[in-house]
Amino acid sequence: MAITESLLPVTSEQDPLSDSRSDPIPETRRRRPIKIHLAVFSGFLLIALYVALIVTHDGSVSKNGANEDGTVVESRARLAGVSEKRNERIWRFSDDQKTVAFAWNNTMLSWQRTAFHFQPEKNWMNDPNGPLFYKGWYHFFYQYNPNAAVWGDIVWGHAVSKDLIHWLYLPFAMVPDQWYDANGVWTGSATFLDDGSIVMLYTGSTDKFVQVQNLAYPEDPKDPLLLKWTKFSGNPVLVPPPGIGTKDFRDPTTAWKTSAGKWRITIGSKINRTGISLVYDTTDFKTYEKHDTLLHQVPNTGMWECVDFYPVSKTKANGLDTSVNGPDVKHIVKASMDDTRIDHYAIGTYYDSNATWVPDNPKIDVGISTGLRYDYGKYYASKTFYDQHKRRRILWGWIGESDSEAADVQKGWSSVQGIPRTVVLDTKTGKNLVQWPVKEIESLRLSSKKFHMKVEPGTVVPVDVGPAAQLDIEAEFKIKKDDLEVILGDDSVEDDKEFSCQTSGLSTVRGALGPFGFSVLADQSLSEQTPVYFYVTKGKDSKLRAFLCTDTSRSTKANDVVKPVYGSFVPVLKGEKLTMRILVDHSIVEAFGQGGRTCITSRVYPTKAIYGATKLFLFNNAIDATVTVSFKVWQMNSAFIHPYSAEDLGVSSRT
Ligand SMILES: *[C@@H]1O[C@H](CO)[C@@H](O)[C@H](O)[C@H]1NC(C)=O
Ligand SMILES: *[C@@H]1O[C@H](CO)[C@@H](O)[C@H](O)[C@H]1NC(C)=O
Ligand SMILES: *[C@@H]1O[C@H](CO)[C@@H](O)[C@H](O)[C@H]1NC(C)=O
Repeated sequence: MAITESLLPVTSEQDPLSDSRSDPIPETRRRRPIKIHLAVFSGFLLIALYVALIVTHDGSVSKNGANEDGTVVESRARLAGVSEKRNERIWRFSDDQKTVAFAWNNTMLSWQRTAFHFQPEKNWMNDPNGPLFYKGWYHFFYQYNPNAAVWGDIVWGHAVSKDLIHWLYLPFAMVPDQWYDANGVWTGSATFLDDGSIVMLYTGSTDKFVQVQNLAYPEDPKDPLLLKWTKFSGNPVLVPPPGIGTKDFRDPTTAWKTSAGKWRITIGSKINRTGISLVYDTTDFKTYEKHDTLLHQVPNTGMWECVDFYPVSKTKANGLDTSVNGPDVKHIVKASMDDTRIDHYAIGTYYDSNATWVPDNPKIDVGISTGLRYDYGKYYASKTFYDQHKRRRILWGWIGESDSEAADVQKGWSSVQGIPRTVVLDTKTGKNLVQWPVKEIESLRLSSKKFHMKVEPGTVVPVDVGPAAQLDIEAEFKIKKDDLEVILGDDSVEDDKEFSCQTSGLSTVRGALGPFGFSVLADQSLSEQTPVYFYVTKGKDSKLRAFLCTDTSRSTKANDVVKPVYGSFVPVLKGEKLTMRILVDHSIVEAFGQGGRTCITSRVYPTKAIYGATKLFLFNNAIDATVTVSFKVWQMNSAFIHPYSAEDLGVSSRT
């Protein structure tokens, strides 16, 4: 994120990081401790560097998980002409290496399966498809391989839910049974027409691996389960236009209404290295007029997949139907960057008259590396839909694995979906979205415990919550005013211009005002742990800046896992406390900073911190700051996710 405003107001009397409104600290007190702190700080830095060197020297696995021999492994998906819809790094230990891959056994692997996230019973899943609410049911379709725990043979899996949490698996909605989708029924989106009927547009990979768009609709609109889907006899309805690669044309959006009463869609593509979104108008979804102009384009961003386009209200907290436009509305363009596997979005203005969109801030345009992301961890190929039932816009995102393909095959499944999130414009900053797990997730909350703890610099405190594999944590952090003033009073203390969660070291590196937070999925001896934390720094402008990070580097003893430090800047406004929410569900950790301004999803695969050995800790690795934490921890129930039967559905059995 490149937003440089709306930071912690250090000059304000109303210090957001502190309860106390004490008198200004005398100059003498402010100055004195600095030297000591700096000395201590550099001492720790040295130790940290030393530790880092040892780790680097001994570690047979490089931190970013790239192949040791530097080879690039071409995935089967890329060869097929779609994004590498799988773990981005295939673990290969070259012959000349002594390294032995971690010996997973079934006890460890079965524990990794999630309890309240949507995942199929077995095998491979990727993108969310055509989410919608119809006749009392939330429908969720997904890219699915019925035959293996790796990408391939893609069909549309289908599940329904009353509450977005408990799911019933239904028969596949669509399978490759036509020449125009013979190599896969790929990603698509649903649109409600004016009469309430549904059309589905999806990408087919043809018998010749050409990406085309196809139309499908429910066979029986009276069926609330939408069990049967009919493919339009005139498919494909769109083929790659001149100048567009036959494998660069996929993932049609939900359609929205133009002021002229037509329907409009956009489809991601690229021209050379420029990521683009093509625009088409239609009245019947069978024939289309292509616009010569693009909805948007950004040079050097590569192929845009899974483009999403939707309005958000500048003033109201509810979501908006996709066709809504007007002065009170901003429009979001989201694209999934095929090159980096990152979902980027930007906020801007949409012009109905010429079917174009312009970002508010071109410096953080769609796909620019310093621009906005839904999630700074593992989160891709996402798609929103408007839930007309509860007037909210809901975001689904595919969470792939960070372990090896071999481990996926051994455990028999790969990928989960993130907990659906409501998404709205942050009306306080006006510069980012806020995402929050749907309210319904709270129905899984069981017993809870409340805590109020003061954590001294350099301490780790066990949090007694019993088993800690399925948790919902909501926490509020305060830094003691005195400690804050010490830092604010000296310009020579840290400058954050270099700080980033990814590159500034692990959660063990101690700064003046951070890191502090929770270590989740930890074992008693902390030999495995995943710290989720804030790091507060002082910027060039002498304002404080807060970052939210997740450090997975010590999350597992296994060596065949990608273990990055994730995170980003999180806007904290005047008068706000630092707040964090964490959902822990076995091998997935979802973190939300400041009510969902910055989100981080990680996959972690402990080998010791499993079953009864999974613990929760609170830590404060700051050198100068005592942190007071008020928090509540809920044990989370498992969701009911299994194949449907007529009784489950509460409907009479169907023919
Ligand atoms: C898997 O390994 C762990 C740790 O070594 C051990 O406690 C467990 O019993 C093993 N399970 C099986 C099925 O071998
Ligand atoms: C794409 O790149 C090729 C080779 O550099 C160049 O000839 C062509 O003009 C480029 N196309 C566009 C539309 O910029
Ligand atoms: C589209 O229309 C808007 C508003 O009239 C204008 O500002 C913009 O420059 C136009 N864009 C293109 C590509 O013509």
